Amino acid sequence: MTEKIIIGCDHAGLNLKNKLINFLENNNTEVDDAGTYTKDSCDYPLIAHEVAQKVASGEYKKGILICGTGIGMSIAANKIKGIRAAVVSDTCSAKMSRLHNDANILCLGERIVGEELAKDIAEIWLKTEFLGERHARRVNMIE
Ligand code: RB5
Repeated sequence: MTEKIIIGCDHAGLNLKNKLINFLENNNTEVDDAGTYTKDSCDYPLIAHEVAQKVASGEYKKGILICGTGIGMSIAANKIKGIRAAVVSDTCSAKMSRLHNDANILCLGERIVGEELAKDIAEIWLKTEFLGERHARRVNMIE
């Protein structure tokens, strides 16, 4: 499907993360798992910052972060310079966040989106290329 990505979650996103890893690996996408690995309560900013730093450094081009709503992960990830994290719960936003915003982190909420929708969102998000041109100018203005 695409280049190797990094994925992370907190306890509230663990089930969906495991399902997405299976789905992506079965669809030819290599995935590195940054944790968390158990249902024990943990703090989403720690995982968000680890994944965001690895994307911002260029170690990975894209990452996926999952928590209960996707919101906490996106707020935390967007604190890292160079990160454009988008919370997505529909396929149109998945596509547009790549086409127009060059989002480099996809945030999902396990308590918000079902498994099948999350798979569709991830597949579309990973395969959609940034349009560049006027959108690149705007994205550069963010930095
Ligand atoms: C954990 O209960 C929950 O607050 C977290 O997963 C996330 O939804 C925060 O935005």
